Amino acid sequence: MNTRSHGYLRAFASGFIAVIAGFVAGCTQLADPSLPQTTVFPSSDWGRLIQDLYVLIFWMAVVVFIGVEGFLLYAIIRFRRRREGALPAQVHGNTRVEIAWTVLPALVLLVIAVPSIGTIFASDRPPPAVTNPLRVRVIGHQWWWEFQYPELGVVTANELHLPVGRTVLFDLQSSDVIHSFWVPKMGGKADVFPARENRMWFTPLEVGEFAGQCVEFCGIQHANMRLRLFVDTQQDFDAWVQRQLATAAQPPAGPAQQGAELFQRSACIGCHTIRGTNAQGKVGPDLTHVGSRKTIAAGILDNTQENLKSWIQRPQDHKVGNKMPNLGVRDEDADVLAAYLKSLQ
Ligand code: CUA
Repeated sequence: MNTRSHGYLRAFASGFIAVIAGFVAGCTQLADPSLPQTTVFPSSDWGRLIQDLYVLIFWMAVVVFIGVEGFLLYAIIRFRRRREGALPAQVHGNTRVEIAWTVLPALVLLVIAVPSIGTIFASDRPPPAVTNPLRVRVIGHQWWWEFQYPELGVVTANELHLPVGRTVLFDLQSSDVIHSFWVPKMGGKADVFPARENRMWFTPLEVGEFAGQCVEFCGIQHANMRLRLFVDTQQDFDAWVQRQLATAAQPPAGPAQQGAELFQRSACIGCHTIRGTNAQGKVGPDLTHVGSRKTIAAGILDNTQENLKSWIQRPQDHKVGNKMPNLGVRDEDADVLAAYLKSLQ
């Protein structure tokens, strides 16, 4: 082998290693149980419908690949140059070949269309056997998610709980611009429009945590408009609903109690609801049980007391452009407010 082909080989090898290193680096995120955010191992019936279609079309593509590469190899070997200087027969046009390479791809597309269209119709609404779906209203806001369970009377934000094995029917709405609701392991995505209701359904089939994400560019914090789906056993879900239905817990005496009093005296109540108190604002997330959530700020911060404090003091530093201004909250005030919010289990 000459030096030039060694050079190519080395370039190819380092490229290959870089790609593998990229994949391995991607795996380091897996400490979060809601990851990976992938469609490849679906955890819902709707996700499996789509996955089955992928797999079917993948194998059809393999057949086409083998056919095309087979013909190519045959042509390369059969019609290779045999004698120095000899030209092959010079031809122009071949009606039979041209008809073949027009009709064959059209047939392939037709064959792909049959299961694809079937899946589109099957995924449009829940299977007829589903008689008692759970209804959830999803409302997109810049840049967080509101989840309402109209039949249960629960309202929460950014973290969605569903019971395993029960089909869920989503009404999707937006309070401002177009967003898109997507939990990759549950299936496809659905756009969320202002002044128009969209719908979507799936049945979660596995207990666990699943990351989701807004997938329609909706402004500067689009990438920080995350959500987290918890698929619970029926028992855990019922217990969660009972806790969510309760009005806000009485804060324990001390910092949390001081924080509760301060909250009621400050601008917080203009934007947030804490049920059972005078705070009835509707601009930001309902905080009645904010302490029970795993994350805050639509999934970008762990729900710790330090992060709550930091967010209360500098929401614009964490998430520039969001509707909560930096209010210049003093250190000691932020401490008691964070203690209060953390106590709202
Ligand atoms: Cu909401 Cu992107």
